[in-house]
Amino acid sequence: MNLFPTVKSHLADVRNYQPGKPIEELEREYGVKNAIKMASNENALGPSPKALKAIRESLLKIHRYPDGGCYYLREKLSKMLKVKPESIVFGNGSDELLIFIVRALVGPRDEVIIADPTFLIYEIATQTENGSVIKVPMKNFSYDLEGMRKKINARTKVVFIANPDNPVGTYTSAKRLAAFLKLVPKNVTVVLDEAYYEFAVSRKDYPDSLALLHSYKNLIVTRTFSKAYGLSGLRVGFAIADPSMARALNKVREPFNVNLLAQVGAVAALDDKAHLHKTVEMVEEGRKYLGDELKNLGCDVVETATNFILADLKIDASKVYDQLLRAGVIVRPMAVWGLPSYIRVTIGRSRENRFFIQVLKKILKEYDL
Ligand SMILES: Cc1ncc(COP(=O)(O)O)c(C=O)c1O
Repeated sequence: MNLFPTVKSHLADVRNYQPGKPIEELEREYGVKNAIKMASNENALGPSPKALKAIRESLLKIHRYPDGGCYYLREKLSKMLKVKPESIVFGNGSDELLIFIVRALVGPRDEVIIADPTFLIYEIATQTENGSVIKVPMKNFSYDLEGMRKKINARTKVVFIANPDNPVGTYTSAKRLAAFLKLVPKNVTVVLDEAYYEFAVSRKDYPDSLALLHSYKNLIVTRTFSKAYGLSGLRVGFAIADPSMARALNKVREPFNVNLLAQVGAVAALDDKAHLHKTVEMVEEGRKYLGDELKNLGCDVVETATNFILADLKIDASKVYDQLLRAGVIVRPMAVWGLPSYIRVTIGRSRENRFFIQVLKKILKEYDL
């Protein structure tokens, strides 16, 4: 589609991010009721009750601007994570931090190295700044870190590692990551996107990224309240970086980017250990159930350390996606990531998981798998 003629010409090539279909849209378009969304890796248990209570109590304050420095959230996280308050940067979701990183570091002709497939925002943010994206295919659904390192040259500004990765779900081990970081030049920033941290951290060989920050000033870690904490709709995430990098990211940040309710909700969610625990437990149970059932249906399943599963249906998944929609289940078709026979399904509550499997079973039967 043509853009207005005075717009920067490179924006014509920027792909718009396609989010998972909203429940309301599906219900409107297909006339189904009680649709289940298993498409955007949200927390199926809902938000933390403690966060909800704190948000309700703050509603009367929304005629005021939020605290642009996120004082209370910063203090709390800094104590919890044992990092300096000035090393934390807050974003309107961690999406925004990924965009800040590219905005602060990447200009025309600069290069950004990403895996293929990976989270789409890295590519979109880079294209928006007119930088070049260098994609390194995964090997067996794992990061090819050696391949990524070989692509580093004088133009490289950033390497993005989603750990675990979306849409794949696998993670890079502490050992592999440490070996990679040793070889990356100091003037190349490595971003460890830990949006699914809470689901992966119990794995023995999952990296201690905050410890790595002491040795690598060129490392930035990003995390979010959107997944395990169940606050996707409020939009709040954070980055931890060397204070000099944090200062740079704050230069490209809008002054009131994290809204008042998001700040209050995030502080309270950090205190709600019970909700976090229940969430992780639900995901672990659902992962096993869905993994086993999908395999029983003849699908290949990629081992995941997240709250979603990438599955190869071995047929055109866009058709199955459409049939699932008609039955009221929203998953993510993977053609846009170059995986036309795959779907990505977010782990839900057990009744949602069971319903999804029941519907999928019926659909796949028609294909005689
Ligand atoms: C790997 C990864 N990073 C970052 C995000 C962004 O999450 P948010 O902007 O909600 O914090 C997502 C969301 O799906 C993700 O999958």
